[in-house]
Amino acid sequence: MPITQEQIVIALKKVDSGTGDLDIVTRDWVKEIVIDGCRVTVILEVPARAGPTLEPVRADAEKALRSLPEIKSGKVVLTAQIPKNGGKAAQSKKPSKAGGQLDLPDVKFIIAVASGKGGVGKSTTAANIAVALARLGPSVAVFDADIFGPSMPRLFGLSGRKPNTDGKRIIPLQAHGIKLMSIGFMIAEDDPIIWRGPMIMGALEQMFRDVAWGKTDVMIVDMPPGTGDTQLTISQRVPLAGAVIVSTPQDIALLDARKGLNMFKRVEIPILGIIENMSYHLCAACGHREEIFDHGGACRTAEELGAPFLGEVPLDLNIRTTSDEGLPIVMSDPDSPHSQEYMEIARKIWAKVSAGERKAPTISIGGKTVV
Ligand SMILES: Nc1ncnc2c1ncn2[C@@H]1O[C@H](COP(=O)(O)OP(=O)(O)OP(=O)(O)O)[C@@H](O)[C@H]1O
Ligand SMILES: [Mg+2]
Repeated sequence: MPITQEQIVIALKKVDSGTGDLDIVTRDWVKEIVIDGCRVTVILEVPARAGPTLEPVRADAEKALRSLPEIKSGKVVLTAQIPKNGGKAAQSKKPSKAGGQLDLPDVKFIIAVASGKGGVGKSTTAANIAVALARLGPSVAVFDADIFGPSMPRLFGLSGRKPNTDGKRIIPLQAHGIKLMSIGFMIAEDDPIIWRGPMIMGALEQMFRDVAWGKTDVMIVDMPPGTGDTQLTISQRVPLAGAVIVSTPQDIALLDARKGLNMFKRVEIPILGIIENMSYHLCAACGHREEIFDHGGACRTAEELGAPFLGEVPLDLNIRTTSDEGLPIVMSDPDSPHSQEYMEIARKIWAKVSAGERKAPTISIGGKTVV
């Protein structure tokens, strides 16, 4: 006989929520029970603040599931509740902005690195730009918002590492002087988590808010691929200073880049510029330059769309191998022409965001601002 929802609920009712007198069902934490033959996944939606302390409850719930003989594989996932007010008022004294934006007072500028399409090199570009920015001086953090395929642990050589907590908040891991947070630090790489829209934002919100970022000048957010609801929600909820669009030169990718760009325009996030990745190929043996794809497309698209063009990065074996080794090329080979290109792009980005910080002087006459 296949297992039923009722049987699972009865088992979960025996799991204490950590208070000693209330079980997780009574507390209404069981948000979803997914039965797939003899595999069961239970989603517990818990108060965001309590999240980091509830691992024992999660483990107990998993034990309760596995005690049912019909269940071969039982998995329990914690996600954060999103309060009805948008998830912010509870921890912030400041009034929440439109759509309940997250409040990250210690982080000066947050920049999204995005594309319309997957696999164009967003994460590689985000990692190298982060290292390049750090080399220019600002304090830098990287937030891996790609819940489905987190890349930052690998790109920064931190696969398998787990962050510590100070009892209240998570201490971000650090590599090359950059603070990092990724869902990849919380779950095993091959862990198949079933995410639904609201859960994604809940988990991301928790990762943003429950991390002790400390004073940070610029945070790079590596966005998940595409322009769906998740990306839109992130763009609305995270107080972004701007977005950088990564595209490969092919027409189809550029079409996707336009979609990415339009998504940010819709939510009035400034486009800091477009980067053409895998722009051309340099032969590792003889240095011959080949324009495999229609090189220059991103620059033309940028012009057409009135967005700045930030630069082009070639398709180069060293960029891939250094990424795989967890040492982005800007770190491992800072004098290479590719690193110089990333440095130049980072300079442009930093100039754009930090320009917004310097307010133009105002002149007042009789208490009234005239200029
Ligand atoms: N300029 C480049 N030269 C050579 N290889 C590159 C370059 N940029 C990215 N790659 C390689 O291409 C692959 C995809 O890159 P990456 O993971 O950065 O893309 P992505 O856009 O973040 O993908 P996803 O949409 O899955 O998140 C990786 O193997 C990476 O090493
Ligand atoms: Mg990626």
